[in-house]
Amino acid sequence: MWKRILLLFFLAALATALLSANPRRAVPARGAAEIAQADANAPINAAPKLVAFTFDDGPHRGSTDKLLDGLAERGAKGTFFLVGEEIDEGRDLVRRMRDEGHQIGNHTWSHKRLDELSDEEIIQEIGKTDALLKSIAGEGEYWLRPPYGFLREGAEKLVGVPLVKWSVDPRDWESRNTESVVKAVSETIEPGSIVLLHDIYPTSVEAALRLIDALSAEGYRFVTVEELLRQYGVTPEPGKVYRSATT
Ligand code: NI
Repeated sequence: MWKRILLLFFLAALATALLSANPRRAVPARGAAEIAQADANAPINAAPKLVAFTFDDGPHRGSTDKLLDGLAERGAKGTFFLVGEEIDEGRDLVRRMRDEGHQIGNHTWSHKRLDELSDEEIIQEIGKTDALLKSIAGEGEYWLRPPYGFLREGAEKLVGVPLVKWSVDPRDWESRNTESVVKAVSETIEPGSIVLLHDIYPTSVEAALRLIDALSAEGYRFVTVEELLRQYGVTPEPGKVYRSATT
């Protein structure tokens, strides 16, 4: 009987000694340290990197609605600069943009270069679209993106709202290629960027959604231009040009 008990004690002591001496037991400890180190660099612990995706020239049925679906699925917000002439066919899309928390902006009535127009014509190009947007989406400020980014020097005073340009331009209208748009944006985007895209091209819509998926994993969050400036502490002023949250 005693022998048996002693043997059991001996075996238990031996097992404990072997287990604590086993070098493999140190592995989980190192693993945990490595995980803790990785966590320190993970985006989940960092402040969100905010960017604004902007979509010009719509609304366009067949691509704008797909983009709205994709943004809603991902909880991402965008800014849409609409061409007056295109709005009538897509009134429901404009209301959807408003209802789903996106920013709506003015991209003139007929997409003319504003630097080639008289003051009177500029006021008309902007005013007509502004009035239509207010009648559909309600009172509010509809910020301006001048077509091609052109505006005569001194003409800013004619625009009663902030002017939005961009800091990232993948030239999506030129390539009409999802891969190259994704690549160009990925290479140049940084927190505070304003990205120029066109939701009239299915290739750009696809690129935007793929970029949102990939960049979300890196800690990026997608907000309207208005929200981007607000988060960076920038107070938007009428007639002033904004290219990113910092320029
Ligand atoms: Ni345009």
